[in-house]
Amino acid sequence: MMILGIDTSCDDTSAGVVVDGRSVLSNVVHSQVEIHHPHGGVVPELASREHIKNIMPVVETSLSKAGVRMNDLDGIAVTVGPGLVGALLVGLYYAKGLAYVCDIPLAAVNHMEGHILSIFLEEEIPQFPFIALTVSGGHTSIYHVEAYGQYVQMGQTLDDAAGEAFDKVAKISGLGYPGGVAIERMAVNGSCDRIKFPRAYLEKESLDFSFSGLKTAVALYMKKWRDNQTQQDEITLADIAASFQESVVDVLVDKVMTARRKTGVKSVIMAGGVACNRRLRERLSEAAGTEGVNVYYPRPEYCTDNGAMIAAAGYHRLLRGETAGMSSDVRSKFPIRPSPLP
Ligand code: KG4
Ligand code: ZN
Repeated sequence: MMILGIDTSCDDTSAGVVVDGRSVLSNVVHSQVEIHHPHGGVVPELASREHIKNIMPVVETSLSKAGVRMNDLDGIAVTVGPGLVGALLVGLYYAKGLAYVCDIPLAAVNHMEGHILSIFLEEEIPQFPFIALTVSGGHTSIYHVEAYGQYVQMGQTLDDAAGEAFDKVAKISGLGYPGGVAIERMAVNGSCDRIKFPRAYLEKESLDFSFSGLKTAVALYMKKWRDNQTQQDEITLADIAASFQESVVDVLVDKVMTARRKTGVKSVIMAGGVACNRRLRERLSEAAGTEGVNVYYPRPEYCTDNGAMIAAAGYHRLLRGETAGMSSDVRSKFPIRPSPLP
């Protein structure tokens, strides 16, 4: 089954063609970083306008790169939430139009399900059941994934998402937007144990996250550091970046491994933009190795927002007969609900 997947949930216009939820024929992403960069974050209005400009060329390029035409497709999958409402609307109405005119089934996809299933775009895939850590700019959650369509959320962030913390700390550090990559790059030359920033583990065994206290602690520290009031000499911005990154990584790795132990599953996957972070990958691999657990990461282009992961998720929806109607709408908040069992 050949599916075209479209995602316009935030600041990337993306489309990909995937066969049977596994083989990627194309994955085209038009980034809006240059548009939002001067504003230090995503401006929703600008994002919608950019999606309108780019959706047609992005879809056309993804079809031509895949070497297919519209009538070769067996389905169109589109993200309907969670995300920015105006941005989501552009993708949904474009997909509806295509599906209606070309008489192709439409699948309405949850963006987070797309992130979880992005691991199936890789050669090496986990066996069900497994634990998935989804870490992006808008979400930080842990799921127990029992099968395609069967996701039980075990924990989530109570305030900021991990990516949001990276973005905010980068902003206050003057490292600009998007923050994750900038912090990671800066942290390479720093020492991760130079400053002891807080780690919010919450209640014992809790699988929820909280990053807002850490963000505030870094902001206060930055202020003192800039005013030359810190106790230690020769602290560099790289030390601050590395120490901040380490506190996020410590908590993420601890919680995902706790979820693993609670469920007894043998595999762990990580997805979403923050899953590109090399320190996080290194530390999770180490922890998994110690417990004899398999760990899987999608390549970076499948971690950040992309149309191919939406095509993979849409494929499984269509296989289950979950076709979306022309009255489907977008949802800014959209918790994943397990599909009804067959
Ligand atoms: O999944 P994604 O592309 O979009 C959302 O669904 O939010 O994730 C974007 C987030 C941003 O917050 C960005 O700063 C973060 O992922 N990110 C990273 C890295 N690359 C992207 N965070 C830490 N380290 C990275 N290397
Ligand atoms: Zn995402």
